[in-house]
Amino acid sequence: MENNKVIIACDFSSSEEILKFLSKFGNKKLFLKIGMEMFYSEGINLIEKLQNIGHEIFLDLKICDIPNTVYRTVRKLSALGIKMLTIHAFGGSNMMSSAVEAANKKILILAVTILTSISESMLKQEVIFQENLSENTHILPKIVMRYSENAQKNKVDGVVCSAFEAKKIKQNFGNSLLIVTPGIRNQNDESYDQNRTATPEQAKNLGSDYIVVGRPITRSENPVNEYEKITDEFKRSAKNTYKTTIRA
Ligand code: C5P
Repeated sequence: MENNKVIIACDFSSSEEILKFLSKFGNKKLFLKIGMEMFYSEGINLIEKLQNIGHEIFLDLKICDIPNTVYRTVRKLSALGIKMLTIHAFGGSNMMSSAVEAANKKILILAVTILTSISESMLKQEVIFQENLSENTHILPKIVMRYSENAQKNKVDGVVCSAFEAKKIKQNFGNSLLIVTPGIRNQNDESYDQNRTATPEQAKNLGSDYIVVGRPITRSENPVNEYEKITDEFKRSAKNTYKTTIRA
């Protein structure tokens, strides 16, 4: 199968809806992201059905729990033959290393840093104690970098982050961390609930290895055209040329 770098976020509410959507693509083999809504309602049956058709699966469950529970969960999910699975970097180093150990190199473990729907001001108002922060202190990129560093130290395969943090992560960690970027929008697209959005070209130029695109494709009047357009733009854009200074 060709190496798909554009992952379609299949945020639908039933198997029928997904299959109807996919039928528009004919025999094309795609890389599909299945999230919580679909997995919790349709479960392993859906994953197997999509894999039998020939699609690759990124299971985006954003797992976050105590290390033992995560180990046991990831061990079960690794047996499904999926390609990627997400955990939250917020869960800490022990949780991340438990996930990596349980995956046993059968699947790629990705650590979600800060959701692309979270903005700097939201983080300051809702998550962080802001008493000692000046208005000009940007904490979001610092948290993303710290999470990425923890992920790399614990041998996590990659991180999920916005395109705007991708550049610094590539500069610091080179190819030791895959970068997967959601929040992708064309210039005139609606942003929906996403805050830190980038075009496919910006994402590629900033260092993203894969992009995740949902509504711009799934809600398009012509999803196949939109997918091809985004894939071409991502493929065509210059590969990043950042120096890779992998930390010991
Ligand atoms: O429709 P849209 O293109 O915004 O879809 C983005 C997808 O990526 C959603 O399924 C969302 O859950 C996921 N995601 C994200 N931001 C992250 C991690 C995952 O938007 N940091």
